[in-house]
Amino acid sequence: MMTGTVLRDRVAVVTGGGRGIGEAVAAALGIAGADVAVWDLDRKRAESTANRLVAENGRRVVGIEVNVADHVGVDAAVVLTEQELGPIDILVNNAGIDVIGPFLDSDPELWDRIIEVNLRGPITTCHRIVRDMVERGRGRVVNLGSDAGKVGSSGEAVCSATKGGVIAFTKTLAREVAANGITVNCVWPGRVRSSMTRWLGQSRSSGSRSRATSHLPSCFSPATTRDTSLAKPCRSAGA
Ligand SMILES: NC(=O)c1ccc[n+]([C@@H]2O[C@H](COP(=O)([O-])OP(=O)(O)OC[C@H]3O[C@@H](n4cnc5c(N)ncnc54)[C@H](O)[C@@H]3O)[C@@H](O)[C@H]2O)c1
Repeated sequence: MMTGTVLRDRVAVVTGGGRGIGEAVAAALGIAGADVAVWDLDRKRAESTANRLVAENGRRVVGIEVNVADHVGVDAAVVLTEQELGPIDILVNNAGIDVIGPFLDSDPELWDRIIEVNLRGPITTCHRIVRDMVERGRGRVVNLGSDAGKVGSSGEAVCSATKGGVIAFTKTLAREVAANGITVNCVWPGRVRSSMTRWLGQSRSSGSRSRATSHLPSCFSPATTRDTSLAKPCRSAGA
């Protein structure tokens, strides 16, 4: 596939880029000409997505195993990314988890897991990466919120709370670094068909691809999304 030039010589990091929305974002950035680091908790997923994107658009793409909630791991992932691709110009905070169920049946362990990935994750990556962007006087950050973070969503109380937090965090950080030539934005998708939303069942999740992704390459085809378990701890980037 021919790649564009809009993002030529730009380096992008996509967290949770191994599948789903993150995989589609990584593909779109590559098509626009960027070199891409696919960060994911799942090493095999990160690597196989990276290999596929190299084959599809010929850009430089690396897959890196990292837990975005672990600041030591994030630091190591930044070093690896810069060694392979150069300084990071674009950060897409996409990694997220959710477990659907009534709030009153949930427990503190689950709350902690969701908060760690969905809220502490983007805070951790921004704290590490935006500092370097400020020094270079340029950078773009996009955080994945959710409709649930604005209007709530039954069965997703804690996830909704984290996404509301991501929206507030984004607005605040954007104000703090705008004068340094950095933009920080948040997108909040509605329902997108992915492994995360498999709980919706066939009646709501099957059929045509989401409008949000239907223009993207085959890597975002439902056939390529895998039904794997939720996040497991990892040691460090690329370990
Ligand atoms: N799918 C939807 O309908 C929808 C709607 C609104 C918002 N979102 C948000 O979009 C983002 C992506 O959702 P998706 O549906 O593509 O999810 P997904 O489950 O298909 O993919 C998430 C990816 O993140 C990775 N990940 C999980 N924990 C991680 C961690 N600690 N560190 C690094 N990587 C980690 C997973 O391994 C996986 O590859 C999430 O932030 C989600 O909250 C999704």
